[in-house]
Amino acid sequence: MKRTLLTLFTLLCLLPAAADEGMWLPSLISSRIDDMRAKGFRLSAEDIYSINQASMKDAVVLFDGGCTGELVSAEGLLLTNHHCGYDAIQRHSTVEHDYLTHGFWARTRAEELPNKDLNVRFLVRMEEITKRLAAGETPEEIIARAEAEAPGYRASIEQMYYGNQQFLFVYEQFDDVRLVAAPPSSIGKFGGDTDNWIWPRHTGDFSIFRIYASRDNKPAAYSPDNVPYRPKRHFTISTKGFREGDFTMIYGFPGNTQEYILSDAVAYIAERSDPAKIAIRDGRLEIISRAQESDPALRIHYAAKHASIANAWKKWQGEVLGIQRRGTVAAKRAYEEEFARWAQDKPEYRDVVAGLKAEYARITDPYFAREITLETLAALPGKYTPEERQKEFFPRRETPERELFHWQVGEYARRCPVLFQIPEFLDGVAKYGTVDAYAERLFEETWNGGETPLSDSLQNGIKRMLNHITWLTGTKSLRNLTSKHLNELYTRYVKGLQEWDTERAFYPDANLTLRVAYGTIAGYEYADGEYHKPQTTLDGIIAKDNPEIYDYDIPQALRDLYASKDYGRWGVEIDGRRTVPVCFLASNHTTGGNSGSPVLNANGELIGINFDRTWRSTMSDIAFDPSICRNIAVDIRYVLFVIDRIGDADYLLQEMKIK
Ligand code: ARG
Ligand code: GLU
Repeated sequence: MKRTLLTLFTLLCLLPAAADEGMWLPSLISSRIDDMRAKGFRLSAEDIYSINQASMKDAVVLFDGGCTGELVSAEGLLLTNHHCGYDAIQRHSTVEHDYLTHGFWARTRAEELPNKDLNVRFLVRMEEITKRLAAGETPEEIIARAEAEAPGYRASIEQMYYGNQQFLFVYEQFDDVRLVAAPPSSIGKFGGDTDNWIWPRHTGDFSIFRIYASRDNKPAAYSPDNVPYRPKRHFTISTKGFREGDFTMIYGFPGNTQEYILSDAVAYIAERSDPAKIAIRDGRLEIISRAQESDPALRIHYAAKHASIANAWKKWQGEVLGIQRRGTVAAKRAYEEEFARWAQDKPEYRDVVAGLKAEYARITDPYFAREITLETLAALPGKYTPEERQKEFFPRRETPERELFHWQVGEYARRCPVLFQIPEFLDGVAKYGTVDAYAERLFEETWNGGETPLSDSLQNGIKRMLNHITWLTGTKSLRNLTSKHLNELYTRYVKGLQEWDTERAFYPDANLTLRVAYGTIAGYEYADGEYHKPQTTLDGIIAKDNPEIYDYDIPQALRDLYASKDYGRWGVEIDGRRTVPVCFLASNHTTGGNSGSPVLNANGELIGINFDRTWRSTMSDIAFDPSICRNIAVDIRYVLFVIDRIGDADYLLQEMKIK
């Protein structure tokens, strides 16, 4: 195959040679192990994943169905992020015992708090079953057989490369997971939404749980008779520190990436979808923030809602900036044109790119309508519960709910493609004269409870329209901009890419299955002439500290520790001053779901807990750019420092293996 200059140029833009790009399947990690070892890794593929002996995979869990956690003691102690444990911490919090504000430290095993509906899953094994399926075994049979192997086993079949390969994943699920410790939010959520997705970062984003099992160490529903689970493997913790350029590896459950999508889809995301969703949320956040500033009760009431709206809102902005700055749409377009030229005389691939483009043209409008509907009408409460209405602040005029109704209904009317506007909605507007008058009627009715025919009919309309769009695109899960036909085309496209682009290292898109990512501790050039170092320290927390600003108001105990410099064994020398390391940056390819993932050094020892990415790196969900894509972790030494010095929970350190 002869490569043109254009291809080379494109490749350089999209897939730089020594990229730390990739989320690799652990069972196939032997194909990467030489590269990993060249970058400094000192262990073997069998150390990472083995079905014959305990391996690192046995110390990693899918936490609460959407985060990652890691085992750090022989007695089932588990670390994850504060924001992953947030629900559990919040549910145990009352006005008298406000663990969110003040933190929580169980002093004995008996004080560890059980959590309904919280589970963790260990991967027992994964295996490719493409051939078995092709030979006629059904997915149902395969799953049923795997789940019958042992109590507590759960199995699922996941597609890789748009169905070119099918894998069976067998998990062991534990349902008795107890809250052991959480720092105060002023540490665990330090910087709040202001610092979210931002570097330099100073968040102590960790919480601690313990897995309980039956006396024979098997999964069991909660019982006071359960005992701490004895894992096959747990991580040793390294406090030796690291330097820029050192090897790092992340073992966890990344949720969703789309590395192989066509330029058309990237353009849709960066030019149409993200900007519209950002603008809608601009308005929602502005209304909520204004209310929060007007009243402390409203600030608390809307805290979680604000955080969750702001998280994706901010992510999308960084994603758009990254895509624009790196010229991703143009680079992808050149790449697929080159592929199409290669495919011209290959019947299997000849029509694929054109087919994908045609299908995007067909489904983009309805998909956009779906996204707008979900961001506006479907995000409105269908009815307020009596409890909600009785909340002391609701009768006040400053409640933002009415304003939110007007904003979201208005945005729907302005942005949703007319062809896909809900008939019930159009009827409502016609009946009340204007969009605003209709929004007001809708709000009044929803607000006042009782019979809400107007809102009920709108809810039905929403459901019907979303179903219609799903039918139109012929797919059940409309997670990404996709359709049944599109998926079939992508199956061929990705297969063709692998045949054509033999120099590219292919890895399957993230789909909440266990993956390995590896890279190095790395800063980056944030802007022209502005280099961001990969490590932050306690000094930076103190510099941000401000009792007047909620997000930056640290506990007095931390101020006192800083003043006394009494850091004990956690103090280190950085740039000539004695301090405590707090967060660090690395070049590992991660995404949502990797929250809580162990960050490991060359010896497979725990040096941090992953919790975020830098703003513009969020484009790595679509295209990984090694010059700007960085993940953010909390330094394990800060975690230990907080456990010891803030939590005074030395007994937890005793059961960890700390080097
Ligand atoms: N941005 C991180 C992740 O997506 C952390 C989110 C939680 N923190 C927050 N301030 N909202 O999901
Ligand atoms: N905070 C994200 C999570 O909850 C991880 C950050 C990212 O998207 O990389 O999984």
